[in-house]
Parts: sequence; C-alpha cells; structure tokens
Amino acid sequence: MSRLWDAGGDLDPEVLQYTAGDDPVLDRELMPWDIRATRAHARMLRSLGHLSEDEWVALDGALQEALRDFQDGTWDITPEDEDGHTALENRLVARIGDPGKAVHLGRSRNDQVLAALRLWLMDRLEALGQAADQVAEALEEWGARQGPVPMPGYTHGQRAMPQDVALWTGGWAAEVRDDAEAIRLARRRAAQNPLGSAAGYGVPGLPLDREMTTRELGFDRPQEPVTAVQISRGKAEAEALFQATLLARDLGRLAGEVCLFATAEYGFLRLPEDLTTGSSMMPQKRNPDVFERVRGRAAEALAALQEVLMIAWGLPSGYHRDLQGIKAPLFRGLHGVLASARVMARVIPRLSFDEDRLREAAADPALQATARVLDLVRTQGLPFREAYRRVKGGQSPIDRSQPPGGPAETPTEPTPGKDPSV
Ligand code: ARG
Repeated sequence: MSRLWDAGGDLDPEVLQYTAGDDPVLDRELMPWDIRATRAHARMLRSLGHLSEDEWVALDGALQEALRDFQDGTWDITPEDEDGHTALENRLVARIGDPGKAVHLGRSRNDQVLAALRLWLMDRLEALGQAADQVAEALEEWGARQGPVPMPGYTHGQRAMPQDVALWTGGWAAEVRDDAEAIRLARRRAAQNPLGSAAGYGVPGLPLDREMTTRELGFDRPQEPVTAVQISRGKAEAEALFQATLLARDLGRLAGEVCLFATAEYGFLRLPEDLTTGSSMMPQKRNPDVFERVRGRAAEALAALQEVLMIAWGLPSGYHRDLQGIKAPLFRGLHGVLASARVMARVIPRLSFDEDRLREAAADPALQATARVLDLVRTQGLPFREAYRRVKGGQSPIDRSQPPGGPAETPTEPTPGKDPSV
C-alpha cells in the first residue's frame, strides 16, 4: 500500500520501517476512535458543501463497514501501512474511490491522531474511574463485613494505636475514591478538540466548523489557537497517567500490605488458594503473586509517565515525529493501571481477616499507651507532657515487664521541653 505522502520516489525501506515503528500495532487501539473522528470531520465537510450528499453517504457507509470489519477481525492495519490513518484512508479509497480521497480535506495526520487519542483517553479515563470505584466498593464492603473487629494500627511498622477493620478498609477506600475523582477530572485537557488545527497552523482559506466537530465528538471546546494543539501533545496524556499513577501507587501499597498481613509472621489473613500460585521447587508454598504484580506495576505506571513527559521535553513548537513515541508508554501505562484496578476489584471481595489473630494482636497493652496518657489528663487534670512521662516511665520499649502507667518516675528524667522521643 502506498503512503499518503508518496510521490513515487524510492523510499529506503529500513528507514520507513524504523520511523513507523510499532504504529501499525499501536494504532489498532485508536482505530475505532479514528473512524469516529473521521466520520465527524466528513459530516462537517458535507455541511459546509465540501462533500456532495452522495460522497457523504458513501463515506458514512464505508466508515461503518470499516468499523465492523475491524471489530470482527476481517480487516486490520498491515505492516505495509505506515500507520492506522494510512490504513483507513487506503481502505476507504479501495472501497469507494474518490470520496475516500476527498475526506482528508482540511485535515492532517497531526490533528487526526490527536483527535483519536483524546477520544480514546476520555473513554479510558472513565473506565479507569469506574474500576477504581469498584475497588473502593469492595473495600467498603469488607469493612461492613468485619468492621468492628479490632486490629493494631502501625507507625514505622511498629504497633502504635488501636484501630479496627472498618478504619483500615475505610482509609484505603477513601483514597481510592479520591483517586477515581481525580482521574475523571483529568478529562479536562483531553476534552479539547484538535480538529481544524490540521498540521498545526489551521487551514487558511478554508473555514471549517470546529464547533460542529466539537459537539459531534463530545469534546468540551475547540482548542485555540491552532498553534497550541501540537505544543499540548503529551500533556493530557501525562495528566491522565499522573492520576493513574497515584491510583496505581495506592493499589500497590494496599497490595503490599495484604502480602505482609498474609505472612506467617503476621497471620492476619490467609489468601484463598485459587488466588495464590505455587512454587516449582517448594511444595508447601502458596504465593501472593497477584498482589506482588499489583505492587510492581505501580512502578511501571510511574515509568510510563516519565517516558511520556520526557518525549516532548525541550521540543520547539509544531509537530515533531518524536511525539509519536508518546503512544506506546501511554497505552502501556493506562492498560496496566486499569488491569490492576480490575484485578483488585475482583480479589478484594475474597479476602477476610482471621478475627482471632486480629483480636490477639490488638490485645497488646502497648497499643493503649496513648489512651492511658489521655485518661490521666482527663481524670487527674495533668498537663499532657506530664501524663505522657508517667506512662512512658512505666512502659519503655526496653522494659515491657512494667505495667503500663506504672512507676511515675522515669530513671533518667529528660529535660522539660527537650524530649527527643516526641
Ligand atoms: N503516527 C504519527 C504520530 O503518532 C501520526 C502523525 C504523523 N504525522 C506526520 N507528519 N508524519 O504522531
């Protein structure tokens, strides 16, 4: 198949293949959106009289057919196509001839790819927001199941204060809900319509109806001025990945805590057997691989964000082929976070704490030390620091044999106001 810009000269095949890179594969992600945006662009051209009614009808039919064939696998982008946009135009021309050649009027692949990318992005952000909400629901439901059961709260990984299951699940659920909200808000940059900016400088002498394609495609507004469009490439992508990375971070930390609680040392939960994997060498092993993958993929999301940010770093205005490189980490990153959120929403409902183990751990009197300080303040009217010292004197980490709140004097009284342990 010929390139859209081919003038018949000899093209170095290795250079062509290198420049196209993985586009024939990556652009599969964009094809349904490219078809949608192409249809909106064609409708707008028809409304301005740049396409005849017959041409529009032929294009509409051929685009719908292309979508069907793409979705059921009977038509695909081939390695010979430089990218998805070329594949689509070649297909339209092969099917309907001249109208296929007319549809690129007032458009360049530079705004075409961005239209498809931003539609894809808005759709994926919504999907990711929903998946995050499902994780939060699963956590809330866990809290409703075992909520009042006491468990230790930790700081520095050391037993600190009492909490219960509802407080533990509630903290994670609230943060994941907050992530979901921020993910939906990341739509703002993606909701700017690039169509009409063409190669980056508009289409002088050919007024286009940018409001019409904006409405038709569900964008919020046309991006103005046209020169802003290529400068902005990668920003909506980075913002989406940033919010996705924060979700991935929370999911990874939660997954890591589940791994910790599932160790024999904690024994707070036993993973259902079908959520674990075995060892090729050690027959007794049941490993929490799914949670470890969720933890590891948080790093992958951050790496993808960094890659997206760096590709456009330092580029002058206008389109540069460097920008093509944003697609791979964007797709990889967002797919990874979506997969992690979906798998967490699937496995969390299967998790339950061992209530006896939690109660046993939560019975550690050390967890009540701060409550005792507050008791002394309340019942004896002591200043906080004085009450703190009395309790600390009876419950140093070195001497746990002393009853909490025991001897009022500490062996080495620290200088008032200079207590380093605060
Ligand atoms: N594959 C290209 C990209 O993602 C499409 C735009 C190509 N534009 C060009 N002028 N070569 O950026």
